[in-house]
Amino acid sequence: MLDKCERLQWDPDADLDWSVAPRRFDRDTEMAVVQYFTDMAGIERLAAQLFAVQRDNTTDPTLRAIFQSFVVDEERHAIVAERLARHYDVHHYRPYRTNPHLVRFAAAFEHVLHHVSPEVANAYITSGEILLDIALLRSLDDFVDDDMSHQAMRLINRDESRHIAMDHYMVGYYGSEEYARWEASQPAKPLLEQLRSALVVLAFMWKARPFLKAVFFEPMDMVDPSGRRLIEAFRRIQLVGLMGEAQGRPFNRFLRLLQDTFNHPIAGPFLGPLVVRLMGVDPRVIKRLYTEEDERRVRRMSAQELADETLAMKGAAA
Ligand SMILES: [Fe+2]
Ligand SMILES: [Fe+2]
Repeated sequence: MLDKCERLQWDPDADLDWSVAPRRFDRDTEMAVVQYFTDMAGIERLAAQLFAVQRDNTTDPTLRAIFQSFVVDEERHAIVAERLARHYDVHHYRPYRTNPHLVRFAAAFEHVLHHVSPEVANAYITSGEILLDIALLRSLDDFVDDDMSHQAMRLINRDESRHIAMDHYMVGYYGSEEYARWEASQPAKPLLEQLRSALVVLAFMWKARPFLKAVFFEPMDMVDPSGRRLIEAFRRIQLVGLMGEAQGRPFNRFLRLLQDTFNHPIAGPFLGPLVVRLMGVDPRVIKRLYTEEDERRVRRMSAQELADETLAMKGAAA
């Protein structure tokens, strides 16, 4: 993997041809497209932050180098997204700024990252990347349907294939016996500290709803009106949480408890709105999106097999 990370680096100036003329859109569409790319840059920088945490959390030199290369990848994606925004800003109808919900969320995110375990940080990045790679970027690229966007997304997607593979690998690692042994050997955190961390995470989850709505659900409704890819991506996230090695982990159990509460015939109608607020996502994706057969199948799968399946779904490159 490290060899691949080094070999497949690229340069936005040398490897993309920015001289192609941008597709012309009507006024509203142009403004929407430029705003999407502006926000995409902010999301890519969140991903960079998360991989920096993964890098700092590991002592294994190979893993460190892999995650460091991912930080570089995500920063490159942010720069490319900013350039795409400028490329499509043909008429300068208005100035564009990162969505304020995203700005606020990014600040809260920085804070929470110091309170969550590396495992929870990994759950965030895995879910975030599945949403981004399977749903948002593919749909955005189809919607823009233009050579410049296709060129950039092809290379971004190639980087994302490595990220997704590692995300799954780490989900498997945090669910492994090796990690359980390491965890058991660590001194227990004082109760007060545990409580403080839990509260920080809950407060953070509470803030995620307006952010996800503004930068994910609303744009998705525009670029993927059928909601097909949105459901596909959330179904995938639910399935990754069921993977043999990961299903018993506390954070996954907590998320499933929230989901079961939402879907419960008696508790659901009362506690459902609270669950929606806490999980930060639309009710349509808190529903159980997989069948019993899916569940049985995924419980038997390894991280590698699941990664291959996710990669196939996103249209893997290299
Ligand atoms: Fe990225
Ligand atoms: Fe990524």
